[in-house]
Formats: sequence, C-alpha cells, structure tokens
Amino acid sequence: MLRKRPKISIYIAASIDGYIARKDGSLDWLDRVGDPEEDYGFQKMLSSIDGVILGRKTYEIAAPVADWPYKGKKLIVLSQSLKTVREGAELFQGDLTQLVSQLHNEGIRHIWIDGGETIAQFLKLQMVDHMTISVIPILLGDGIPLFHPLAKELPCRLISSDSYPSGLVQLCYEIKF
Ligand SMILES: NC(=O)c1ccc[n+]([C@@H]2O[C@H](COP(=O)([O-])OP(=O)(O)OC[C@H]3O[C@@H](n4cnc5c(N)ncnc54)[C@H](OP(=O)(O)O)[C@@H]3O)[C@@H](O)[C@H]2O)c1
Repeated sequence: MLRKRPKISIYIAASIDGYIARKDGSLDWLDRVGDPEEDYGFQKMLSSIDGVILGRKTYEIAAPVADWPYKGKKLIVLSQSLKTVREGAELFQGDLTQLVSQLHNEGIRHIWIDGGETIAQFLKLQMVDHMTISVIPILLGDGIPLFHPLAKELPCRLISSDSYPSGLVQLCYEIKF
C-alpha cells in the first residue's frame, strides 16, 4: 500500500489483563521477564524507526534514564503542560494528523508511538499500521490501560506470535483499515 504518511507502529508490553503500568505508573512487574541475553526485538524495532512520539507521562518516566534509547531519532513529546523538554526532543500539542504530515514532509518514514493515551488517539484516528504487544505473564487487576474504547472496530491480521522461556508472549499484528 502506498502511504502518504510515515508508517506508525506500537511496540509495548502489557499485562495479560491489558495494563501497561500500575495505577501509580510503576513498571516493576516488567522485571519478571528481564533477561540480559534477550531484548525481545527492541533493538531491531529501534533500528527500523526514525521518529518517536511520546505522551508526556511516558516521556517523564523515560527522561531520567541515563541510557537514552532515542538518540539519533526525531523525538516528539506531546504535552500541553510542559514548557521544555530535554535536548534533542521537541514539544507538540494539538492535531496529530497535522503532526504526522509535518513529520512526513521532514522525511520521517517510520514512527514508534508510546504511551496509553497517545496510542488511543492514534487508533481513533486510524493511523496505526503495526502493533507489537509483549504480553507479560501477570494479571495486574488494575492500572493504566493499553487500550481505550474505540468508536469503530479495527480488524487486525496476526503476523507472528513468539513465546519466550520467560513466559513473555509477543504478538505482532498489522491493523487493517
Ligand atoms: N508497558 C510499557 O511498555 C509502557 C510503555 C510506555 C509507557 N508505559 C507507562 O504508561 C504510563 C503513561 O501512559 P499514559 O496513558 O498515562 O499517558 P501518555 O500517553 O504517556 O501521556 C499522556 C499525556 O500526553 C499528553 N498528550 C497526549 N496527546 C496529546 C495531544 N494531542 N496534544 C498535547 N498533549 C497530548 C498529555 O500531556 P499533558 O498533560 O502534559 O498535556 C497527556 O496527559 C506510564 O506509567 C508509563 O510508564 C508503559
């Protein structure tokens, strides 16, 4: 398919019951699948993208990390409340269709979007092409949801499913509009 915008992908970990963080934002439950020998395709995904769009809440978790994973990528932080972001990142607020078209005009071809509210908006706009969901073997019971209600069903095509010794199951889907 010839797209007049960059490809947009989700790469995220979720509990079996569909949460991406505890209510307080904590991610300690991801440690149960931590393995120094296994990155679950993260570096491969990172090398395939040239742009990243982060919701402010995800950015605030990522910003203090010493080993900044977004080096060399066009990095946009969505926020109405922040006034500044770290060097190499840009702030944006408002119409995401306009943002994507602007990034397209700048030559960006593949964007990773991250953060639950952020993903929800892109799904509503039917602008997500690919989803990699790493299912962590835990039921959190409550937390920040990966998916929000949608006005329209979005059929998906399973591209791959891989299970790892840690119990993590990784599902890759293409979203068909
Ligand atoms: N499990 C995982 O793999 C994973 C991955 C990523 C994140 N997380 C976790 O998920 C949590 C964050 O997700 P979340 O759903 O709470 O929020 P989020 O999507 O990271 O951030 C939401 C914020 O982004 C800003 N925003 C979103 N759309 C905007 C727009 N169109 N214009 C301007 N600003 C916009 C707003 O910030 P303002 O309030 O500043 O306006 C909004 O409050 C964190 O706890 C993080 O650790 C988990």
